[in-house]
Amino acid sequence: MNDDLDQRAASLDTAHADTDLRARFELPEGVVYLDGNSLGALPVGVADAVASVIRGQWGTDLIASWNTHGWWDAPTRVGDAVGRIVGAAPGQVVVGDSTSVRLHQSLHAAAALRPDSSVVVTEADGFPTDRYVIDGVADQVGWRVVHARVDEIPGLLDDDVAAVVLSHVDYRTGELRDLPGLTAATHSVGALAVWDLCHSAGAVPVDLDTHGVDLAVGCGYKYLNGGPGAPAFGYVARRHQDTFVNVLPGWNGHAEPFDMATEYRGAPGISRARIGTPPLLSLLALEAALRAFDGIDIGDVRARSLSLTGFLRACIEALVPGAAFASPKDDAERGSQVGVHHPAAYGIVQALAVRGVVGDFRTPDIVRLGVAAPYLTHADMVTAARALRAVLLAEEQLDPAWATRHTVT
Ligand SMILES: Cc1ncc(COP(=O)(O)O)c(C=O)c1O
Repeated sequence: MNDDLDQRAASLDTAHADTDLRARFELPEGVVYLDGNSLGALPVGVADAVASVIRGQWGTDLIASWNTHGWWDAPTRVGDAVGRIVGAAPGQVVVGDSTSVRLHQSLHAAAALRPDSSVVVTEADGFPTDRYVIDGVADQVGWRVVHARVDEIPGLLDDDVAAVVLSHVDYRTGELRDLPGLTAATHSVGALAVWDLCHSAGAVPVDLDTHGVDLAVGCGYKYLNGGPGAPAFGYVARRHQDTFVNVLPGWNGHAEPFDMATEYRGAPGISRARIGTPPLLSLLALEAALRAFDGIDIGDVRARSLSLTGFLRACIEALVPGAAFASPKDDAERGSQVGVHHPAAYGIVQALAVRGVVGDFRTPDIVRLGVAAPYLTHADMVTAARALRAVLLAEEQLDPAWATRHTVT
């Protein structure tokens, strides 16, 4: 069926052979893994690195490891490694805690940096944690929250706005936001641009420094492949670090942590954003995972991702006529996923998994296929689209009423 797609996949895979990093990951045979935007795959070397931390460092050198194995500096060292991927010069990214915590911390810092402004602007359909954190911080600092469609936001900005908080890529639709343009619009009224990079870090060039972003947060366990519960990261642009107020002051962020001083005095630089003892095993797993990006330009990852997602869409168009795409067609507007609306999306995702194609469901009706470019091929995209067609055909036979709504010919 559709040999032409196989031929196109083969020639695209040849053309993109330089960015095929499949050998840097451990993935089960026979699985097309399209959920790397929820939990990234396991990079080669991570299991050994963690075993060595456990046996060779913790098990052997015990507490001396905090110094001899660089545990103490890990949050900022791994932060610099993340910084290389999101376009931040060293000394501006810290790793540890969850995205929710980092966002909470960033928004309080934004409120302290803009004490005379009383509005926070954000997207109406943001990820739940972002909404909850924004509402929670707004209650605490006295902000009014304005929810809007992203395209409406530039028109809503005025000098009462303290911060604009947005996801770089929409978790549900995969829509890529214009980070440079929205950051510039935010700055034009003197507000701060705060970005959630959960669905772009490791998949899309972010170039935080180049675009003058103020504060940013993101997950370690999606496209950065740090493993389940991997710590998140927080970016504080260097120009804000001296005045950065840490709403969660802990001893790890103290200027002299081992003085055990009774009064808090924030450390200089990004260390001021540290809180308490980090989850070292997860942090060092993330450090090992980031080596999967060694020698790789994130722009090349993006080029591969666009080719894969564009081809996946073309395969679905060819095999599932009339598919209702949730993700933008235009390369400039698409992150690294392809979503399809369907009223039976939940069941379709389960049926795909049985066929070895692992995606996920996002309420209310989206089959979300995340494309982590380093370990996926164009041939995988054909496999996924064929599985989708087969699932839809099987479902139609079970419930002929569907055939009238979602014709698969
Ligand atoms: C946009 C976005 N923000 C935040 C999170 C998660 O935050 P946390 O690390 O606190 O669980 C996710 C997780 O899927 C997400 O997609």
